[in-house]
Amino acid sequence: MAFSLSDKYLGKFISTFDMAAVENELKTAFDLVKHKNGEGSDFLGWVNLPYDHNMEEYERIKKAAKKIQDSCDVFLVIGIGGSYLGARAAIEFVQGNLYNDKKKNTPDIYFVGNDISSSHMRDVISICEGRDVCINVISKSGTTTEPGVAFRVLRSMLEKKYGNKANERIFVTTDAKKGALRPQAEEYGYESFVVPDDIGGRYSVLSAVGLLPIAVAGIDLDEMFKGAKDAEDEYTQSFYNNDCVKYASYRNLLLRKGKCIELLASNDPSMTMFCEWWKQLFGESEGKDGKGLYPASVIYSTDLHSLGQYIQEGQRTLFETVINVNIEDNFVIEEDKTNADGLNFLAGKTINYVNQQAVLGTALAHTDGNVPNIAMEITSRSAYEFGHLVYFFEFACAISGYMLGINPFNQPGVEAYKKNMFALLGKPGYEQATKEIYERLEKLSK
Ligand code: PA5
Repeated sequence: MAFSLSDKYLGKFISTFDMAAVENELKTAFDLVKHKNGEGSDFLGWVNLPYDHNMEEYERIKKAAKKIQDSCDVFLVIGIGGSYLGARAAIEFVQGNLYNDKKKNTPDIYFVGNDISSSHMRDVISICEGRDVCINVISKSGTTTEPGVAFRVLRSMLEKKYGNKANERIFVTTDAKKGALRPQAEEYGYESFVVPDDIGGRYSVLSAVGLLPIAVAGIDLDEMFKGAKDAEDEYTQSFYNNDCVKYASYRNLLLRKGKCIELLASNDPSMTMFCEWWKQLFGESEGKDGKGLYPASVIYSTDLHSLGQYIQEGQRTLFETVINVNIEDNFVIEEDKTNADGLNFLAGKTINYVNQQAVLGTALAHTDGNVPNIAMEITSRSAYEFGHLVYFFEFACAISGYMLGINPFNQPGVEAYKKNMFALLGKPGYEQATKEIYERLEKLSK
């Protein structure tokens, strides 16, 4: 296994007494996840998903991915939040953040319907001009506005381009029975996949939600599941000597010491969307009842030149969880005869060697500046590693959420903006809310 977690930088911040003091609490939280008897436990389908997924559908997803690869240049993935972030994180983690620009025999992939920007939509439509296109629309509820609007626009684009044949290019991932997408899939004969009832959006990347786009990008699903299975074996069995348990305890102890912001840091741009996925996982799971760590992210060394100053010397409310991507490379920096740039001291060293010294120097500087570091390391960006890391963070998040005393599987707060938006847009059923919101706006403008 190529993943490790270390407490080597935590000595000054967390003592063995601190760890001992939370052991009972942690054990209770671990047991609630393992035995599926805590609040929200009807959304724990992801716990056994690595071993327990629908094989018939899994094979169908692989076939659909092959069909998409063979029939389009551009694959549009419509979805938002948990129906978007995991697949994009996987693709950038394994294939790099320049996937679309690389020479490859798989389609370019664009993620749409995760904003309400008309200029983004126009750009995507213009990218599709003169190219063959397929769509995967993903929405568990089938009623989310952003992907709903995007699907309406892009389906019409496909129908104009392909007529009746457009239906063969549309793939739907949604609830087995509920929502607006299921009946559309049935009426138009779109191939469809099911988001399991017992898996919430942010825990769904290893379900059909993530699998189709990930497979279209040429990523080996079997390898990804092998990583997730190994993680399930490793983290769900024993409470003792369990890295998920350790991570959950470190972050909760640091929160109790006033470190209320967790920065997920990594040293490779291919981790940017993984960090976005992680932010949703922890933010939506833990941020409720006035509790929770605020999840933020940085990519090094890029952000050392923008946020580095704040991290080093700003408010001391931060700690970092650093995923060090440490992949051996043979990208050697060459000797330059003139040494005009003064960089000959690096000649013969690899770029990764330099990156590693930056990671080390940063960890020492930040811990000196009272920013605790939880150190993680991966030595590959394989599909296996992605499956393993996803499971690690999902399981740790569930334990951590129960330690906070909240339900890590609901997201009641997400409804507040939707209610206002629907009232403003005059959605049927929101008549009273519409009246009230316009009265409120009138008062504000006086
Ligand atoms: O994690 C969640 O539950 C949310 O982020 C949802 O995934 C997101 O709101 C999209 O919902 P849906 O898949 O129903 O369109």
